[in-house]
Amino acid sequence: MKVAVAGTGYVGLVAGVCFAEKGHNVVCVDIDKNKIAKMKKGLSPIYEKDLEELMQKNYKEGRIDYTTNYKNAYKDADFIFIGVGTPERKDGSANLDYVYEVAKQISQTVQKDCIVVIKSTVPIGTNDDVEKYIRKNLVNKVKIDVVSNPEFLAQGTAVRDTLQASRIVIGTENKYAEKKMLKLYENFDSPKVLTNRRSAEMIKYASNDFLALKVSYMNDIANLCEVVGANIEDVSKGMSYDERIGDKFLKAGCGYGGSCFPKDTKALHFLAEQDGYELKTVKAAIEVNKIQKLILLNKARKQFKTFKDMNVAVLGLTFKPGTDDLREAPSLENIPILLDEGAKIKAYDPIGVENYKKIYPTEINYVSSPQEALKNADICFIFTEWDEIKKVKPEEYKKLMKKPIVYDGRNIYSLKEMKEIEYHSIGRK
Ligand code: UGA
Repeated sequence: MKVAVAGTGYVGLVAGVCFAEKGHNVVCVDIDKNKIAKMKKGLSPIYEKDLEELMQKNYKEGRIDYTTNYKNAYKDADFIFIGVGTPERKDGSANLDYVYEVAKQISQTVQKDCIVVIKSTVPIGTNDDVEKYIRKNLVNKVKIDVVSNPEFLAQGTAVRDTLQASRIVIGTENKYAEKKMLKLYENFDSPKVLTNRRSAEMIKYASNDFLALKVSYMNDIANLCEVVGANIEDVSKGMSYDERIGDKFLKAGCGYGGSCFPKDTKALHFLAEQDGYELKTVKAAIEVNKIQKLILLNKARKQFKTFKDMNVAVLGLTFKPGTDDLREAPSLENIPILLDEGAKIKAYDPIGVENYKKIYPTEINYVSSPQEALKNADICFIFTEWDEIKKVKPEEYKKLMKKPIVYDGRNIYSLKEMKEIEYHSIGRK
């Protein structure tokens, strides 16, 4: 089947490549010419395991192409996927400008009946509105159905999460569209959840917000553990054996980041509020996370009134390991404060430095190993649990730093192995 995908970020590009891998004929559309040229050469614009290999393989075998020419891509597609960004507005609501830009292009260019699939995370009711919008503005007399098909991939495991999806949620308003979608996904061996569009949209938000809530709950409990003298790691281990709780997303730390949890918690809270409902649980998750992002700095503050002229080693810049994405990364909350106060920062990250340089080109001394960052440092902050950072031995902090003082936001060491070092972590004493 012919599939066009609008947007070549995490959602769009990964979906396109995976549909090609499953045998469909895919064309990925983006307005950015440089990005398209790069992808035609087999280079991925995002860092994602296995993605480039599959891009090259499917391009060579003629199942995927990339273009800026949306007219050609959309005119005779069986499916047009919308996988563009829905960034957060200042008030917390989702910005749907990119979604409507694509909807406008679709209405002007489609020449045959087709299914428009919204993969981007959108507020409840958006699929209904986009369908109305496209139908109203159609230039040619064709039949358009809009389907909600949210994405559940996590960065770092995006290809696996798509090819072996935990579930495929299909939200339609009629049997014809549902049948078409089942045909498209017939080679995907995952449970299919068939529902209406509003429920599909809600499944996406409810899933992300539940996970964000789980992390914030563990962070809240971790902070209490410190007050009452308990150990969060033992606590989460003890909880994890209960199958109703499970062992995932129980890790306390310096807060969740990324392009999804922060945005989707705020968006759902915002849209509930607009409908006169206060989503108290999600609000709590947002508030706990705000505090959590600065928890290390606030702990260090008790020891050092100011960071002026201190040599600070920062280990980990990205919001989690396995990605070069910096969106909502805890480092981005802490580094501006340190710089403002006149700290001298040496930072290490295996993948995120190039993106960081776009924000702080000269203010930070970027180094190519954790050891270099630690040399002569007065204090060390760990914000991301990269393997390269986990491999740093406790003795190296002792050997390399002026005085080993470590604030670890990801609990990468046991208290026992760090006992000869001044070591502060989350939820343990
Ligand atoms: C998340 C969801 O996991 C995906 O299912 C979803 O499709 C995606 O958002 C999306 O909406 O596109 P992602 O943002 O890539 O995926 O990252 P996660 O692995 O879920 O981690 C999110 C944040 O939670 C990270 O900052 C991570 O460090 C933090 N986290 C995660 C914890 O602090 N503790 C944990 O136990 C787990």
